[in-house]
Amino acid sequence: MTPEMCPISTKSALNNRQGVKMRLKNRIAIVTGASSGIGRSIALTLSNEGANVIVSDIDKTPKRGKYHERNTITPTVDEISKLGGQGTFVQCDMSDEHGIKNLISKTIKEHGRIDILVNNAGICFTSNSQETTTQAFDNLVGINLRGVFLATKYALPHIKKSKAGRIINIASVHAFNGGGGPAYAASKAGVVNLTKDTAIELAPNGGTVNAICPGYIETAIQDELTEQNIKDSIEKTPLPRLGLPKDIGLAALFLASDDAEWITGISLIVDGGMLAPLPVV
Ligand SMILES: NC(=O)c1ccc[n+]([C@@H]2O[C@H](COP(=O)([O-])OP(=O)(O)OC[C@H]3O[C@@H](n4cnc5c(N)ncnc54)[C@H](O)[C@@H]3O)[C@@H](O)[C@H]2O)c1
Repeated sequence: MTPEMCPISTKSALNNRQGVKMRLKNRIAIVTGASSGIGRSIALTLSNEGANVIVSDIDKTPKRGKYHERNTITPTVDEISKLGGQGTFVQCDMSDEHGIKNLISKTIKEHGRIDILVNNAGICFTSNSQETTTQAFDNLVGINLRGVFLATKYALPHIKKSKAGRIINIASVHAFNGGGGPAYAASKAGVVNLTKDTAIELAPNGGTVNAICPGYIETAIQDELTEQNIKDSIEKTPLPRLGLPKDIGLAALFLASDDAEWITGISLIVDGGMLAPLPVV
């Protein structure tokens, strides 16, 4: 894409809305689960730095939670365009292989390439092995882990052609310890190792693959938790607050940017220090 075709700013294609040089000018980014919470913040943050964002989700309407995101109603693509950016909504269920293939082929048809893939879509329940049905386990792993594998599988041939290819997978602090429930914890541990494996695969083409492991973040996914769970999580956090979606959006921006070009295969823990007191096993 030539500078003349830059979708973001009519005045200066080089500057973002804070007047600073855009770090992702004209890059094509897919963000899954981007209608709500963390994915929404990542989509808005990448857009603010000049990326053209394919906002993908099973549902265009933002999720409103009982604790957080109670007043979020504007679809992410509308928010992006209100702020002067460029985004397109593509409906996709990350447990559906055909849907994922369609997401990738539609992006290629409309934009000709993919530079950044953020595998963020996920669901959470923390029930134990006896309470978790086989179907519920398969469904969670089908979205949280198999969905990441499939999006990576179909996007990778295109990302390999990018000069700054990036895959960013959203895992969790529950990748490293128990307490997230067998389905959720296993799916996120799987994402951490899938990240390392894909990093090796993409490296010869100069691209990077990293995971972000959020602590407890203020999104509607926390409807799963009790008020006591949330209080406990803040008490266990050395920087004592819940994370905000923007804490993860900014971490994703760093990993997507040229500043992180020699960082690959890592899991960046963004948790206010929650894991810091725990032993490494
Ligand atoms: N919020 C936290 O405390 C926290 C902590 C660690 C990790 N995470 C991870 O961050 C990611 C985003 O979670 P969030 O907190 O923003 O949750 P959220 O529930 O606010 O948003 C999740 C988004 O994913 C979408 N989604 C759900 N199932 C989907 C499917 N089958 N196909 C496509 N999209 C689907 C939802 O519609 C929603 O827009 C998840 O992978 C989650 O596991 C969240």
